[in-house]
Amino acid sequence: MFKSIAVIAVGTLLFGALNLCTAQEQEPILIKFSHVADEKTPKGQGALLFKQLVDQRLAGKVRVEVYPASSLFGDDNELQALADDKVQLLAPSLAKFEKYTKQLQVFDLPFLFDDLEAVNRFQKRAKGRQLLRSMEASNIIGLAYWHNGMKQLSATKALQVPTDAAGLKFRIQPSSVLEAQFYQVGATPVAMPFAEAFDALKSGKVQGAENPWSNIYSKQLYTVQPFITETNHGVLDYMLVSNQRFWFSIPHAIRSELEGIIDEVSFEVNRQSEEANLADRQRVQASGRSQIISLSDEQRAAWRAAMQPVWQQFEADIGAETVKAAQTVNRKSRN
Ligand code: SIN
Repeated sequence: MFKSIAVIAVGTLLFGALNLCTAQEQEPILIKFSHVADEKTPKGQGALLFKQLVDQRLAGKVRVEVYPASSLFGDDNELQALADDKVQLLAPSLAKFEKYTKQLQVFDLPFLFDDLEAVNRFQKRAKGRQLLRSMEASNIIGLAYWHNGMKQLSATKALQVPTDAAGLKFRIQPSSVLEAQFYQVGATPVAMPFAEAFDALKSGKVQGAENPWSNIYSKQLYTVQPFITETNHGVLDYMLVSNQRFWFSIPHAIRSELEGIIDEVSFEVNRQSEEANLADRQRVQASGRSQIISLSDEQRAAWRAAMQPVWQQFEADIGAETVKAAQTVNRKSRN
């Protein structure tokens, strides 16, 4: 009797010690963060800051590896890699989620948001928050919005009025709205991954593109685009996303800490993005490689009138209520 009690006691002790060892030796949770932008862009800096804060606050519990500039996965396979749990964090531009939800196409509608502050207001309001959850059926959870900036049109010729774009080919992200936007001005849109944009512009496969200043500068697009028209016609922002099953498999206390870090990083990215884009605009201007064209109010109104029919074309897909909610965020109310 005493012998068997002793055996049980020793066994329990051994089991406890073994559990302790396993807990102590447990590998940290690995988060691979892959993205397609340069490290010096708002997204690139955000990814690095996320890693830095996780290293400081969750050392031994979570390990982050950042893969910028399509070095692990690119536009054409990163969302599949997320689904397959080969990568755990991505920040694709909002134009790249069309396969999973049509609702996010609201961000691609040309001339919908007057500026980045308006985009910010929309993202913070109920509708914007709700859109973070719009891909749950595809096991994608939206964790935050990150700004890049407003897009500018660049080309091999000066674009002052919409008819100047007619007959040119423009590289676009894979978005039906962006496709329709270029058809509206008589141009031909060509969808391709971001990593291919520079070569396509350099070789003449396409003659134009639309990008925020940070991407124009960091990808050296200005060296192969002699004219950049400051249209601010649309926004290029990101959604920080994870695989929902993976995200909720993280123990609650660690996940809460990660979500706090994401809030902090998002605040920083969004606070600095406009300034970063302005600094890159200055760098492009100082390079003398590309002429920056400013539009008069009339010229901008002409671009707006040419592209705006796209809203109606996509309103049913996106949801009239979402388009309407976005329209209310501009300071100057019109339409
Ligand atoms: C990015 O900034 O992530 C790339 C956007 C693009 O494909 O134009």
